[in-house]
Amino acid sequence: MASVYQAKDLKHGTICAVKEMSLSSVPPHEHAQAIHNFLAEATILSRLNHLNLPAFTDFFTEGSRHFLVMEYIEGNTLEELLEHNGGSFSERRVLGWARQLCDVLEYLHSQQPPVIFRDMKPGNIMLRRDGRIKLIDFGIARIFRHSGSRDTQMLGTPGFAPPEQYGSSQTDERSDIYSLAMTLFQLMTNAVVEDGFGLQDIHATYPFISPAVAHALEKATAPELENRYQSVAVFRRALLGVGTFVFEQGNPATTPEELAELCARYPEEAADYLFAGEIEFWLHEIGASELHQPGGKSAPCTAANSRRSPGGNRLWPDLSWYFGPYAAVYYRQSRNISARDH
Ligand SMILES: Nc1ncnc2c1ncn2[C@@H]1O[C@H](COP(=O)(O)OP(=O)(O)OP(=O)(O)O)[C@@H](O)[C@H]1O
Ligand SMILES: [Mg+2]
Repeated sequence: MASVYQAKDLKHGTICAVKEMSLSSVPPHEHAQAIHNFLAEATILSRLNHLNLPAFTDFFTEGSRHFLVMEYIEGNTLEELLEHNGGSFSERRVLGWARQLCDVLEYLHSQQPPVIFRDMKPGNIMLRRDGRIKLIDFGIARIFRHSGSRDTQMLGTPGFAPPEQYGSSQTDERSDIYSLAMTLFQLMTNAVVEDGFGLQDIHATYPFISPAVAHALEKATAPELENRYQSVAVFRRALLGVGTFVFEQGNPATTPEELAELCARYPEEAADYLFAGEIEFWLHEIGASELHQPGGKSAPCTAANSRRSPGGNRLWPDLSWYFGPYAAVYYRQSRNISARDH
């Protein structure tokens, strides 16, 4: 829909990119919306400042032609690179890009109101020669309207856009998480999901994708918003293993709630971790050292009490309480361990 030119800024003597929106392929009744989208891109970009975004310098209109001036990015889109590469990229390489993409999405989502990108795909990501990723094409991003219950238009790209972008409900941060996961999946496999939504059994079909990464991509692309990761920070932890609690069996936990579920499923293993202080350490690591009871009481998770045995650990009852329905399992297990060890 747009033409992007390399141009020279005569005032500053710098090379820049000028994006012109062409209305030639847009039906006349959609012109107003297209112009609106273009101006929205200019307005959003003018307020943003991040290493993984092009610097926006100007925008102008000449008659019926609309132009956006931005930093020229020397490099290729990941879509082009995928084509040149003749196949997929290694998991390690893709996770390096994923780290930068999570950074920029976290930045966009932390704006007030949050900016939802809504068109994450390899063709909208450029890679500079120095390895830096730049997210381009804000044509359809728009400020998230908290009041709206549905998005009014289908925007985004089939294969990468989640169901809610087809009008089932309002898009939010979790929509970008879905598209990011689909993007990473395509980069790792060179495959695109043509039918339906979401990814399943990735590791079984693509054994070169590690189980933890496969699980993170599957959860991130759950068709229902509530079954996905609820923030980029949590998705990042699951994907990159930072702050992920891994049991010998089962999926890695990235939130205290997920850990509680694993503890309930594998109480013996859980008791060992708790006894060794590993759970407390992990809670500190992910910044969940203050565990709040719904009633208002909180259980501070301090280094001083984190190394004590369950029997003498002040945190233990509070943790058990926090794990709610699983507390009984915990307590039973802790007693067994205490009886055996003391
Ligand atoms: N700042 C930039 N510096 C250098 N090249 C750029 C820049 N922005 C865009 N490009 C090039 O122009 C192409 C089109 O850009 P962009 O994705 O913004 O527009 P588009 O045509 O609207 O895309 P889409 O079809 O995804 O909506 C990109 O694939 C990239 O090759
Ligand atoms: Mg594009």
